[in-house]
Amino acid sequence: MVRLSVLSALVSGLCALANPLVKRASLQQITNSGISNPTNVGFYMYVPDKLAASPGIVVAIHYCTGTAQAYYTGSPYASLAEQYGFIVIYPSSPHSGTCWDVSSKASLTHNGGGDSNAIANMVTWTISKYKADTSKVFVTGSSSGAMMTNVMAATYPDLFKAAIVYSGVPAGCFVSASGGVDAWNSTCAQGNSIATPAAWANVVKNMYSGYTGARPKMQIYHGTADTTLLPNNYNETIKEWAGVFGYDYTKPATTEDNKPLTNYHRYTFGPQLQGIYAVGVGHTVPIQGAEDMKYFGFSGSSSTPATSTPATPASSAVPTKVATSAASTPTTGTGGTVAHWGQCGGIGYGGATVCVAPYTCTKANDYYSQCL
Ligand SMILES: *[C@@H]1O[C@H](CO)[C@@H](O)[C@H](O)[C@H]1NC(C)=O
Ligand SMILES: *[C@@H]1O[C@H](CO)[C@@H](O)[C@H](O)[C@H]1NC(C)=O
Repeated sequence: MVRLSVLSALVSGLCALANPLVKRASLQQITNSGISNPTNVGFYMYVPDKLAASPGIVVAIHYCTGTAQAYYTGSPYASLAEQYGFIVIYPSSPHSGTCWDVSSKASLTHNGGGDSNAIANMVTWTISKYKADTSKVFVTGSSSGAMMTNVMAATYPDLFKAAIVYSGVPAGCFVSASGGVDAWNSTCAQGNSIATPAAWANVVKNMYSGYTGARPKMQIYHGTADTTLLPNNYNETIKEWAGVFGYDYTKPATTEDNKPLTNYHRYTFGPQLQGIYAVGVGHTVPIQGAEDMKYFGFSGSSSTPATSTPATPASSAVPTKVATSAASTPTTGTGGTVAHWGQCGGIGYGGATVCVAPYTCTKANDYYSQCL
């Protein structure tokens, strides 16, 4: 029977080869996908050792000055992929800087030939190559990647089932009147782009005009002490998606204090929209990996609460440190120094400017420098 087991090992080896595939359990760049990639966005992915039979997909989009590699090491998604069997796609911005293009008409339009189009093409390629479960395709990102997450949800509502936004701006808020690609928009950053829910909803709907199908549910995190993308961007983002889904943004169905962490307030407007306003937290809110898994439905029950919570926070509300997330401590360190990933400069910024060793204060743009 030895011969039989050798044979079956050989057959399964050949099957693995026949699968077009990417090396497991490490970050891999896909260079021969053949997808249309009009803006030359870097295509990286992590396929876990323990890949599910019909895997889900999480698109994890890096912050400004970031890369696919930096978000891979600085966020918890790859280790969560091993736990839950999904594939992570890490797009890498092609722009100097390197923020995402969330300002050009091309990127703000379904199949418009911008960064959003390139990322969507990576998703459809991955769905087909890995026979992924299209009911488990999700997108998330931090800062510039959070802006892009809102843009992906608006331009490709047909692809994504849920989106989690860590400290972004509304889709279509960072527009460039002069048509600039990857342009900074200080009116929006400073929280001064204000519109009605109906007007914001039109901005979203115009990104994929004629589309009437389902849209991803949205979870929006923002810190009240964010001096890069001012906290009114939270309110405008909530208005935007409340407008799309027909919720009253002034009347959340449930309000939960100290959820998921102390001083965070979770507002559920309906099954499709949840806002988490993090009091005292700056730019960017730390990634809540375990909560993300609940929201995406990979673990436990969805974090959409069935009933309102008791007035006193449960002891589980005590913040736990996010284990693998280096990107999760953008706060001021001890002795007036700034921790890794924290903000250390920019117009309107009044905090510490010295980074803890060995990090260097690196300028992303006039409004934002970060300890990298
Ligand atoms: C910034 O974005 C707003 C919409 O949020 C837009 O009205 C404005 O023209 C943009 N500013 C520039 C300089 O393009
Ligand atoms: C934004 O939303 C938060 C949370 O609901 C609220 O506390 C705050 O007052 C709002 N800000 C504005 C300007 O409406």
